[in-house]
Amino acid sequence: MEHTECDELNPARKAPHAAIGQVLIEALPYIRKFEGKTFVIKYGGAAMKDSCLKNIFAQNVTLLRKVGIKIVLVHGGGDAITKMAEKLGLTSRFLHGRRVTDKEMISVIQMTLAGKVNQDIVQLISEHGGKAVGVSGLDADTIKALPHPNAETLGLVGEVEQINTDYIDLLCGAGLIPVIAPIGFDDDNIYNINADDAASSIAIALKAEKLIYVSDVAGIHVGERILKTISKREAADFIERGIISGGMIPKVLSAFKTLDSGVGKVHLIDGKATHSLLLEIFTHEGVGTQFIAEQESDHY
Ligand SMILES: Nc1ncnc2c1ncn2[C@@H]1O[C@H](COP(=O)(O)OP(=O)(O)OP(=O)(O)O)[C@@H](O)[C@H]1O
Ligand SMILES: [Mg+2]
Repeated sequence: MEHTECDELNPARKAPHAAIGQVLIEALPYIRKFEGKTFVIKYGGAAMKDSCLKNIFAQNVTLLRKVGIKIVLVHGGGDAITKMAEKLGLTSRFLHGRRVTDKEMISVIQMTLAGKVNQDIVQLISEHGGKAVGVSGLDADTIKALPHPNAETLGLVGEVEQINTDYIDLLCGAGLIPVIAPIGFDDDNIYNINADDAASSIAIALKAEKLIYVSDVAGIHVGERILKTISKREAADFIERGIISGGMIPKVLSAFKTLDSGVGKVHLIDGKATHSLLLEIFTHEGVGTQFIAEQESDHY
């Protein structure tokens, strides 16, 4: 690959050849284990904004697909929506990490998420040699939604009612990477679906091997400390005490729903750390925070 401005982020460039070879070969058992398995990756936060991080993320995803792992991306785009809404003179309001969505805002979301944000990701992956396909939740009935229980205050915010996996399976089976914009529908409306919730439901429906949330924090923090693991009981307590707040609330709640529904591994990793995705998948090193069942929760 040609030299790029991101190279200073890459310590391996300075490592001796034997060390590089060793690092590469360490991935082999993981490649053998995960070949043909499905990973759902929720892409949000800083890794979606910074151009170096965006490129590295797209490379990581392409590599994972090329070694035979079925990758399904679900993206957020809260910042892009807020900026576009602002340009159009609309104010963004949030309630417990969810965007209050009226008729005008759902149009902005549709245009920004399924349009610009989604296609930018597709293009970036294709620049690195991957083959991605943009999918809105409306395509081929992929995300059927219900109004959110707090619809009276949240407006056109939806919950996933059902994921139709046919189209996603078709794309994955053809070696393509579905890039899914979290928008849902019912007979009456189009709904804004929190991307974490959408990723969770998609991982459950696909019986994915792993769900990985890529965000802009090193993991779940309690004060200065980054938790290596978190259990449902601890999470409920941290939410109650305001230690977990804002956009982290839907992420944590959907993470435990996913775990309870049989997806074995659910992780939150740092989109700001170079190659965190590859490290999470191809090494023993734990990066970020793993969501775990109650009985394992004594070692954070
Ligand atoms: N205890 C906590 N540990 C870590 N982050 C926390 C915590 N409590 C609140 N947060 C906030 O949650 C944010 C992550 O959620 P956010 O919804 O902003 O990002 P995202 O879901 O990755 O992106 P998007 O919503 O665009 O898809 C962090 O940037 C942080 O400000
Ligand atoms: Mg979020």
